[in-house]
Amino acid sequence: MATSLQISEFGNPNLEPLLAAEEIQRRIAEIGAEISRDYAGKNPLLIGVLKGACMFLSDLMRAIDLSLAVEFMAISSYGTGTRTSGEVRIIKDLDVAIEGRDILVVEDIVDTGLTLSYLLSNLESRGARSVKLVALLDKFERRLRDVPVDYLGFKIPDHFVVGYGLDFAERYRNLPYIAILKDPEI
Ligand code: IMP
Ligand code: MG
Repeated sequence: MATSLQISEFGNPNLEPLLAAEEIQRRIAEIGAEISRDYAGKNPLLIGVLKGACMFLSDLMRAIDLSLAVEFMAISSYGTGTRTSGEVRIIKDLDVAIEGRDILVVEDIVDTGLTLSYLLSNLESRGARSVKLVALLDKFERRLRDVPVDYLGFKIPDHFVVGYGLDFAERYRNLPYIAILKDPEI
C-alpha cells in the first residue's frame, strides 16, 4: 500500500486508506475476465456514469477482451454534500439509441440505490436487450432501493469514501487508491 499512497495526498490526516491501488487493479482484472467470458460473442455497450466512474471505466475496459463500445451519461443526485438528496436528474444523456444492445452500466458506488434504480429502469425502457450493472463499490448498509449489482468490486462499510474517481466537492478524484474521508467538514 505504501507505494500508491505516496502518489498523492500522502500525509493528509483527513484520509484513512481503505483500498490500495494494487488491490483495486487486481479485482478489476478479475471482473474484466468474468465479463469477457459472460459476453463472449457479444458486443456490449459500456455506459460510464460521469464523473465518478471515469477511472474505473478506463481501467475496466482495458481488462475486457471483447469488441465493445463506450458511452457516457451524467446523473445528478448528490450536489456537493455527502448525503443523497433523493432527487435524480439526467444531466447528460446518451448520444446513441440502445435498442437491442447489451448494456453494462459502469458506476463507481451504489449507496442508497436511488440513482441506479432510476437509471437502470430508464435504460430498460429504451428497449435494450439486456441491462446489467458493474459497480466498483457497494455501501450496502445504506440501501433504500433494491439494486441488483451483477458485477461488484468491493462491499464497503458506511463511510464517505474518496479517490479513484470518487470526490468530495470535486476534490480527491485523482487519487489512485480509495480512502475514507474522516471529516467532510475540514
Ligand atoms: P445513491 O443514489 O445514493 O446510490 O448514490 C450514488 C451516487 O452518490 C454515486 O454514484 C456517487 O456519485 C455518490 N456517492 C455515494 N456515496 C459516495 C461516497 O462515499 N463518496 C463519494 N461519492 C458517493
Ligand atoms: Mg456516481
